[in-house]
Amino acid sequence: MDAQALQTEAQSAISRAQTLSELEAVRVRYLGRKSELKLALREVRDRETGMTLNAIRTAVEEALEARERELEAAAVQLDTDFDPTLPGERIERGSLHLITQLRRRIEDIFVGMGYEVYDGREIETVWHNYDALNQPEAHPSRDPQDTFYVDGDTLLRTHTSPSQIRAMMQQEPPIYLVSLGRTYRRDALDATHTPVFHQVEALAVDRNITLGDLRGTMETFANAVFGGEREVRMRTSYFPFTEPSVEFDVTCYLCDGSGCAVCKHSGWIEMGGAGEVDPNVFVAVGYDPEEWTGFAFGLGIDRIALLRHGLPDLRLFWENDIRFLEQF
Ligand code: FA5
Repeated sequence: MDAQALQTEAQSAISRAQTLSELEAVRVRYLGRKSELKLALREVRDRETGMTLNAIRTAVEEALEARERELEAAAVQLDTDFDPTLPGERIERGSLHLITQLRRRIEDIFVGMGYEVYDGREIETVWHNYDALNQPEAHPSRDPQDTFYVDGDTLLRTHTSPSQIRAMMQQEPPIYLVSLGRTYRRDALDATHTPVFHQVEALAVDRNITLGDLRGTMETFANAVFGGEREVRMRTSYFPFTEPSVEFDVTCYLCDGSGCAVCKHSGWIEMGGAGEVDPNVFVAVGYDPEEWTGFAFGLGIDRIALLRHGLPDLRLFWENDIRFLEQF
């Protein structure tokens, strides 16, 4: 037997093996029990031949092991289909919902004016939502047709005004706060009404607060949220928890008051309700109405978002259409 030729032949067969089973066949052929090498080792009679044949066996074993590791590594790569030359998979990045962005913007505006952000509750008692806000028993908004009741004493808040009550019962004046969040009404879904919507409530309680303070605060807010120099107009209105009550409008941000499609050619955009805090509300929370005065207002954030971005329909906010959402 030509030992050297055998080793060369075995090593070239090993490096030609392309799979683990081909390699196993090579191992059997060169190192198996009936292989030429094993038979020769069994016949060895002298030390020198033994050493030569054993050296060949070790070399072939090492070559087998090395090739096995190579083939295994290649198999792992095939398994994962990993192709380093392909471009990577793009990770889709989301963005904050427009309403969330506007909520944060509004919070920033008021924090800039020295207001505190107060977290109210979405599930409220009838007392906080209606009674403490001086809402008469017979008021139509209490009707189960308009309000989502959880049980006789509990409901999904219909506005953010109960936050006024909770804050005043926890703190002593002076108070300057905004409270933002979801509100719920059994309104039929259309372009300007959704059963779940968002409001921002503002409350200021201090000595000698007047409607002039309310107006100045509204103007500052309107300029910050719409930009430019907005004018504010107040119209008399009625809310049980404010006296006097007003609805306020700001000049249209698009036409600056001259009239366009956004403001329905009136030059004005409706912002929401407001007024001086009714003395009965102060009594309900244990404040002395002779000592304290205040103003409050409540605005629909979703409608502000519509106006600010010239959008046609509130329902767009809920449809989860990426093409819509990614524009903001
Ligand atoms: C209120 O909810 C009063 N709490 C506001 C207030 C606070 C007055 C403090 C005085 C003092 P009103 O019901 O008008 O008022 O609602 C306020 C705003 O919520 C509306 O101007 C509108 O922008 C928004 N809104 C009301 N219902 C819906 C609805 N279904 N979908 C979207 N926005 C709505």
